[in-house]
Amino acid sequence: MTVRRVLKMGDPLLYRRADPVPNLDTPELHALIQDMFDTMHALNGAGLAAPQIGASQRVVIFEVSANSRYPDVETVPTTVLINPVLAPIGDEMEEGWEGCLSVPGLRGRVSRHQHLRYTGFDAMGNPIDRTVSGFHARVVQHECDHLDGILYPMRLADIRLLGFEDALFPDL
Ligand code: NI
Repeated sequence: MTVRRVLKMGDPLLYRRADPVPNLDTPELHALIQDMFDTMHALNGAGLAAPQIGASQRVVIFEVSANSRYPDVETVPTTVLINPVLAPIGDEMEEGWEGCLSVPGLRGRVSRHQHLRYTGFDAMGNPIDRTVSGFHARVVQHECDHLDGILYPMRLADIRLLGFEDALFPDL
């Protein structure tokens, strides 16, 4: 069990385009993914991208079950997604609140594609091909943005859509 330090907004590595993973099902890759899950679970996150723990590789994980950070949202299956490719379906966009372990204490209201197909590979090298909507689609877009050096505040239409959690949601 290794909980790694999560890089915070401002760290240059978070703004880099991460490198593709050349070989799947390697001990190094499995160790990285285990550290990512340990770190995400320790911080009660819904997702994590490898660059957030200092590994500039195209690996994301996500899962949404009963999570105190997102008490009211639909669940998302536990997923390891490597070398992802995202293809939005249609033009429909949806606004929603997002948080990020690299931007602690803040939430922002971000517009994302409502419907999306994504492909990639799991840790063993098995292909993944899913068509998703809503919060699942939002989580994938947020995590995969990390692989292109994009943090959600960079997608805000207005800086007033960013705020501290305890000011935005005083009852939580
Ligand atoms: Ni994030």
